[in-house]
Amino acid sequence: MKIRGAVLNRMGVEPPYERTKPLAIEQVELDGPGPGEVLVKIAAAGLCHSDLSVINGDRPRPTPMLLGHEASGVVEEMGPGVDDLQKGDHVVMVFVPSCGHCPPCSEGRPALCEPGAVANTAGTLLSGARRLHRNGADVHHHLGVSGFAEYATVSRRSLVKIDKELPLDEAALFGCAVLTGVGAVINTAKMPAGATAAVIGLGGVGLSSLLGAIAAGARRVVAVDLSDDKLGLARQLGATDTFNAASPEAANEVRAATNGGVDFAFEMAGSVRAMDLAYKITRRGGTTVTAGLPPPTHTFALPQVNLVAEERTVKGSYIGTCVPTRDLPRYIELYRRGKLPVDRLMSDHLKLNQINLGFDRLHEGKAVRQVVLI
Ligand SMILES: NC(=O)c1ccc[n+]([C@@H]2O[C@H](COP(=O)([O-])OP(=O)(O)OC[C@H]3O[C@@H](n4cnc5c(N)ncnc54)[C@H](O)[C@@H]3O)[C@@H](O)[C@H]2O)c1
Ligand SMILES: [Zn+2]
Ligand SMILES: [Zn+2]
Repeated sequence: MKIRGAVLNRMGVEPPYERTKPLAIEQVELDGPGPGEVLVKIAAAGLCHSDLSVINGDRPRPTPMLLGHEASGVVEEMGPGVDDLQKGDHVVMVFVPSCGHCPPCSEGRPALCEPGAVANTAGTLLSGARRLHRNGADVHHHLGVSGFAEYATVSRRSLVKIDKELPLDEAALFGCAVLTGVGAVINTAKMPAGATAAVIGLGGVGLSSLLGAIAAGARRVVAVDLSDDKLGLARQLGATDTFNAASPEAANEVRAATNGGVDFAFEMAGSVRAMDLAYKITRRGGTTVTAGLPPPTHTFALPQVNLVAEERTVKGSYIGTCVPTRDLPRYIELYRRGKLPVDRLMSDHLKLNQINLGFDRLHEGKAVRQVVLI
């Protein structure tokens, strides 16, 4: 079938994107679902910094690629062998498909699925297929989702069925920002109630961590960003203390305010500078978690002796160390009960042809989560 979608033809085009238009709204050919695959009518897709990092080349991927990895939709058609979904079911897309059989999947760590990672790097579905074409050539899938489009053919293993009561624009945010941000606190850090936490980087992912830390019972939640507007929003959402990372004294200021640092610091900005701050504001014996994705050549140095003598822990967190079928329903239920007000992260609704403008706003730090309504 012919669909419209936002295709990145080459990485590294300079902003302003509204003028340079790295994402072209094009007509592409979408194959129907093969075995184990599902055709989904996309309802909404969020703009995440990880999309921006493909556009600007910080996170290199093969092009042309139809972007978008934080999406929700309605099941349209099932391929052979898919017997646990029905046409009309509402689904959230998860940006790491999990095969269910590889060593990490067997150990209950589907976020680290090995064939899933291979497919995502290659720009294919879990099956290895590319179901998107243009002028007779393949177009790559983005993280098995490619959600900035009218329809997507995806692996069944990229989907979680959700309750139809959740509005589909909000549902989209659960696929990346919420799964990643809340999961970093609950699954990766396993932060106990009563702990102190700091979040560095207050985009959709970091603010989800902030909400997760509050929901998990942190007695103090410190919010850090370069933008005073984001700090203001963090305060409204329940941050107890806010600090601007632009201050050269930021680390000392946080340490002074928190008796030598927090129990858990979460780097959610995607930069070595933010990670450095996160490490410095973690207290002796504390844990620094990072979910930010800086360019692959950037390295983080830390004083090894202090890792040892202060018994520090540094943990990476991918897609919130999630088990999607376990965590998504839990987070959605917490949202419904008012414990995880992720609707407050919604900055704007966009049309597909406003997507370059949306990425300008994300690049300039002027938006938290913008969602394209398809
Ligand atoms: N680990 C995962 O599974 C996963 C999933 C989604 C996104 N990510 C990554 O998480 C990061 C955040 O994503 P997002 O969509 O929320 O991004 P975003 O652009 O919306 O937010 C990033 C925030 O960090 C702030 N910031 C930048 N540098 C800073 C610094 N030095 N100190 C303090 N704050 C700083 C910015 O002002 C901005 O508010 C990105 O690197 C993204 O690629 C990781
Ligand atoms: Zn994302
Ligand atoms: Zn697997």
